[in-house]
Amino acid sequence: MSASPKVAAKIGGEDTIHRGPPVEVVRYGPGKRINHWVTAISLILLLISGLAMFHPSLFFLTELFGGGQNTRWIHPWIGVVLFFSFFILFAQLWKLNIPNRDDVKWASQIGDVINGHEERLPELGKYNAGQKFIFWGMASLIIVLISTGIIAWEQYFGHLTSIPTQRIALLIHSLAAVAIILIFILHVYAAIWTRGTISAMTRGTVTGGWAWRHHRKWFKDMAGRGKIDPAE
Ligand code: HEM
Repeated sequence: MSASPKVAAKIGGEDTIHRGPPVEVVRYGPGKRINHWVTAISLILLLISGLAMFHPSLFFLTELFGGGQNTRWIHPWIGVVLFFSFFILFAQLWKLNIPNRDDVKWASQIGDVINGHEERLPELGKYNAGQKFIFWGMASLIIVLISTGIIAWEQYFGHLTSIPTQRIALLIHSLAAVAIILIFILHVYAAIWTRGTISAMTRGTVTGGWAWRHHRKWFKDMAGRGKIDPAE
């Protein structure tokens, strides 16, 4: 049996082809973009404030937040912002990130991906297996970070758990933080490496060529559903 096109054939609500010329494709509306950048800025601030508290050699970074006490106070609140912000993004994107058989084939031919032989790969829906891995990786690590972070949030929840429990929570919290830093680097690297991707999250659009080359099934789905130049 061939890969089920029905599973992968999904498009986002605002995804539309604009005839041009040049052909442009809407990939993210303003709501999703604002949501994405709030999430991204929150994670960057969490990384800086978290690293500042992680090791004495990085303590100087607390100056950016107005000293050690302020850093300790603000870090968990930024975590709460990140959690809700990512959750809103997650609710809108999870269906498009469900893995399918094309993803297995794509991942097994990772050499062709790296060497730019996309003609040998299956046609893809809105996301490839790498993007889906990053999506689910971030989602699960954020759950680990928020739950262990709450256990270690002395001010409000300290009385609910013992000190040894809080220490274990902090150890898991730090390991999850290292993992999300690696995934974050991978995400930003992939966005820059695949030329023409960044505009998806800045202007909301990609070129027709980008969509045809990297996510042809997504492009064909839009065309098939008549999502071309909305009624003006
Ligand atoms: C400076 C940092 C970042 C840059 C430059 C960046 C860039 C991008 C770009 C260009 C896309 C569109 C990719 C595409 O649609 O093909 C994207 C999607 C996305 N980004 Fe980021 N991003 C950054 C940080 C983050 C952070 C910190 C998170 C989460 C903690 C995040 C979560 C996502 C998610 C969930 C998507 C949608 C992809 C999917 O659903 O699989 N991004 N990002």
